[in-house]
Amino acid sequence: MAKHNIKVASTAPAFAKDAIFVIACVLKGTKLALSAEGVDISSLKSLDLEKIGAKPAADSLVKVPGPNGSFFAIVGGFKPKDIDSLRYVGGTLGRTLGDFRNVVSALPISAEAEALALLEGYAVGNYSYQAYKSDAKKQITQTFSLVTKTKVKPAVLTRVEILRAAVHDTRDLVSMPANDLYPQSFASFATKLAKGSSVTITVLDEKKLAAGGFGGLLGVGKGSVRPPRLVKVEYKPTGAKKKIAFVGKGITYDTGGLSLKPPNSMLGMKYDMTGAATVLNAVLAIARLKLKVHASAYLCLAENMPSGSATRPGDVIKLRNGKTVEVTNTDAEGRLVLGDGIALASESYPDLIVDVATLTGAQRVALGTRYAGLMGDDSSVDALLKATKVAGEFAWPMPFPEELRALLNSDIADLMNARVGNPSGGMLVGGLFLKEFVGKKSKTSDELISWVHLDLAGPADNDGPGYGYIPKGATGSYVRSLVALAESLSKQ
Ligand code: BES
Ligand code: ZN
Ligand code: ZN
Repeated sequence: MAKHNIKVASTAPAFAKDAIFVIACVLKGTKLALSAEGVDISSLKSLDLEKIGAKPAADSLVKVPGPNGSFFAIVGGFKPKDIDSLRYVGGTLGRTLGDFRNVVSALPISAEAEALALLEGYAVGNYSYQAYKSDAKKQITQTFSLVTKTKVKPAVLTRVEILRAAVHDTRDLVSMPANDLYPQSFASFATKLAKGSSVTITVLDEKKLAAGGFGGLLGVGKGSVRPPRLVKVEYKPTGAKKKIAFVGKGITYDTGGLSLKPPNSMLGMKYDMTGAATVLNAVLAIARLKLKVHASAYLCLAENMPSGSATRPGDVIKLRNGKTVEVTNTDAEGRLVLGDGIALASESYPDLIVDVATLTGAQRVALGTRYAGLMGDDSSVDALLKATKVAGEFAWPMPFPEELRALLNSDIADLMNARVGNPSGGMLVGGLFLKEFVGKKSKTSDELISWVHLDLAGPADNDGPGYGYIPKGATGSYVRSLVALAESLSKQ
């Protein structure tokens, strides 16, 4: 696909070769009709929209010749003034029109927020992962021009570029195979991505992890020759009133450990660091957008391998907050590294903790590949749910049945990490485990810090064809939701 520049212009460029003009196919009563603004569509007057297969449905795109060797792209899914539809249609354009040097949107826009949605969708959608293709197509630079009389401030274009980079960088990290992405290299990539931003990065290596009592990260990482890391990425602007902490599961590869996964379930487990990539890029975007909120990301990085040095089922480890865990299943490793991360995040008493993880296969079974599961206290779940709606992403609040906590009672330790042989409510049990590591609001309080857990095992990966601004493969979903959440906090 293409690199791009984005322009906003009040008049359309001339029809010419290599340019494609985007207009919408809409329903007018029961008939198909075209909708466009700022470009002459008289050459399409006698076009039979039905016969050429134009549809008002999302992701429908038909190309027809226009004047002077140009093309028209007739897209579906456009609903005037509807932010979500504009973001989605923008995505369809970015994802499918990579071969054109000039893409000109003549979709009717009547507000700056609509322009932002269309441009954001286009930029986020214009993506493909070519890093490991020896015959990767030479990239062209594409210009996307939005033709509109609506005033669009330069800050809108800056915002689009910040969000694009955050989502694309997340996808790049998630797509990178685990022979190249492991805890140390992840820490270096984090440092590289943060260049030029105002965040500070602290890396805890295995010695510091041992000194700090991070038994979860060490216990999971010790089967691998590539030791674990905990990376803290902190953005602390002056004048911020609220503090938010993100904790990400960063298992750079999940074989299951000695509780080894079967081959088909192991395939794709390079994605098991999606949470860490998501929170890293969310905080970088928050910093680049200069939001007035103190935001930190804790990346819990380890490789879960079986070996002579690996944690055995039945071993007991002690996590950062002092709680002991009997590891009954080494494949329930995400909760062990997150337990350390959530406990550490709690030590600086944030107003809100959000953990993001490809935690359970049960999440994917329950909610499929488009919805993430949310668990936590009601107001935090509600705040994140609202943020996903602002970003046009999908999540669903799950119950928090405290009575299931008893399933994790251990005979010899404070708790077990999994109830072997009982897969019921697997996503919920994962959430209940994590809650044990959320700290108190203050040294003297009995109340837990506000906390929400986002399980994105399903929506981290799109195993079907691309749609809207989502490509096949790593989706980069929820980066924009986390930014929206921080934004709402910054305004409180
Ligand atoms: N990384 C997996 C969860 C996962 C599964 C993510 C499928 C994406 C797609 C996680 O570490 C895991 O294996 N969880 C176990 C937990 C169980 C042993 C309690 C699971 O879901 O089976
Ligand atoms: Zn696992
Ligand atoms: Zn895992």
